[in-house]
Amino acid sequence: MKIYFITGNKHKFLEASKIMEKYGIELRMLEASKVEIQARSLREIVLYSLALLYPKINKPVVIEDAGLFIRALNWFPGPYSSYVYETIGCRGVLKLLENVKDRYAKFRSVVGFINFKHVKLFEGEVEGMIAYRELGNKGFGFDPIFIPKGSSTTFAQMDVEEKNKYSHRAKAFEKLAKWIVYEEME
Ligand code: IMP
Repeated sequence: MKIYFITGNKHKFLEASKIMEKYGIELRMLEASKVEIQARSLREIVLYSLALLYPKINKPVVIEDAGLFIRALNWFPGPYSSYVYETIGCRGVLKLLENVKDRYAKFRSVVGFINFKHVKLFEGEVEGMIAYRELGNKGFGFDPIFIPKGSSTTFAQMDVEEKNKYSHRAKAFEKLAKWIVYEEME
């Protein structure tokens, strides 16, 4: 089975492909520009994007939206993560958390799948903490400042395989793959 992952992010694509290939599902990257709508929930963003893109593509499609939720900032930036990353970046987030003891944060991922008969959403979450400084040069986005629970290193210090043991995205794609293999195909 072949599914088209609409994203411009090669890191996301690699992470997701490695999960899907375990289940014999081939992911193809499709660089249609995903509209970055601003909405208060990741689910809303994903559903809106699916509805907009599927009629143009007409093949099984997957879209993902993710965000970083920081407790000490009332769960900001959440659905606004890409804008915050592009504007203030990791450094800006560290600055906002200067002298803040509560470092608890989580990443959430919402993966949306659509084909001729289904529209389904799958969610994944990883808890962790915001580091005190940037560490590592792998991955993307806020990886250098996020330490998942159960690890002593940031995502940016991990290879894709290791990040996938913890990540929000891996969990969401794992749910999608299991649904395809055990339910959708029946
Ligand atoms: P997007 O809208 O799903 O592309 O993600 C929003 C923003 O969240 C991105 O610009 C990244 O900065 C950040 N982000 C999402 N997932 C991850 C991840 O796995 N690691 C680091 N940053 C992430």
